[in-house]
Amino acid sequence: MHFFKENVSLKPYNTFGIDAKARLFYEAHSLEELQWVVDTEVFSNNQVLWLGGGSNMLLTKDFDGLVVKISLTGKRHEVWDEDRVLVTAQAGENWHAFVSYTLEQNWGGLENLSLIPGNVGTAPVQNIGAYGVELKDSFYQLKALHLKTGSVEVFDKARCAFGYRDSFFKQKGKGAYIVTEVSFVLSRQNHQVHTEYGAIQSALLKMPGQVSIQKVAKAVISIRQSKLPDPAEIGNSGSFFKNPVVSEEKANDLKQQYPNLVAFPLANAQTKLAAGWLIEQCGFKGYRKGDAGVHAKQALVLVNYGNARGEEIAALAGEIKRAVFAKFAVVLEPEVNMI
Ligand code: EPU
Repeated sequence: MHFFKENVSLKPYNTFGIDAKARLFYEAHSLEELQWVVDTEVFSNNQVLWLGGGSNMLLTKDFDGLVVKISLTGKRHEVWDEDRVLVTAQAGENWHAFVSYTLEQNWGGLENLSLIPGNVGTAPVQNIGAYGVELKDSFYQLKALHLKTGSVEVFDKARCAFGYRDSFFKQKGKGAYIVTEVSFVLSRQNHQVHTEYGAIQSALLKMPGQVSIQKVAKAVISIRQSKLPDPAEIGNSGSFFKNPVVSEEKANDLKQQYPNLVAFPLANAQTKLAAGWLIEQCGFKGYRKGDAGVHAKQALVLVNYGNARGEEIAALAGEIKRAVFAKFAVVLEPEVNMI
């Protein structure tokens, strides 16, 4: 039986723990339910908010429309070749639970992406990344429902146009598709571990014996737990801003003035700056205003200590953005979607 719920609190559905309400709410457990809902008049006559794991959004007010929660579950796999396996998960699977499952099977490729909040379906939309690895590195293809035609289309890696925290689905394809399942090619043996990141190396040094994908995951989990707040305890959405990319020239100017500037050179005479460092220099690390705050161990993460309203977090983000611009003339762009 299909039915729409009314006046539903979204607090359990967003990792910031913001208590905003949806006027209408529908949870789709299967592709058929998804196809059903996009065909209804309620869908056509209302503004629609799609909800995956709710880990990359800030609800700044009640949503006067229809919220559709994507809860498609299930996974399957098939042997790819002697060394590799093709693993597919439905969009509503929890990302970390999926990564843990692949590691239990001893399949390699996703270990550095352990403990990232959110669901499988939204992971490719922003090409999640951590500790030197991005989702695109082991991505094979995804399926997505085209909302206008109601048909399911296949997207290979090229069609997804992945970039830093970016993809086709945030650019040209924005609002047109809903990801229903994602497939990865993972290693079954001869795993290639990525341990370039300094903190991973230090964590591995404390683990005796040979390096394994499971140990890398363990290292990543311990680093994340030491720096990043657990959304089950303190509401947050991970990094609130993207790390800004500036010209090499601009980075050099800043370096003259601030010798400790944290900067990573990229191709094409561009440099990525650590937003967390910029924010810390403006004195915001550990800052708190009511229940809205900046995490004490990672200045790039904004937190809800309990009952902050979305507007309060948004106001704090605005304050940070203005302070960083005033001090460094660098513009911070949010990584989370403000709704
Ligand atoms: N830094 C500071 N002060 C801070 C925070 C960071 O000085 O308060 C400096 C650190 O010293 C370090 C540099 O900034 O030299 C980078 O910090 P960190 O390694 O914590 O990574 P990040 O650039 O802040 C990015 C991702 C994270 C991901 C980590 C690890 C973005 C926007 N964020 O953070 O992703 O876990 O790298 O790879 O790219 C997320 O997207 O939600 C997320 C948590």
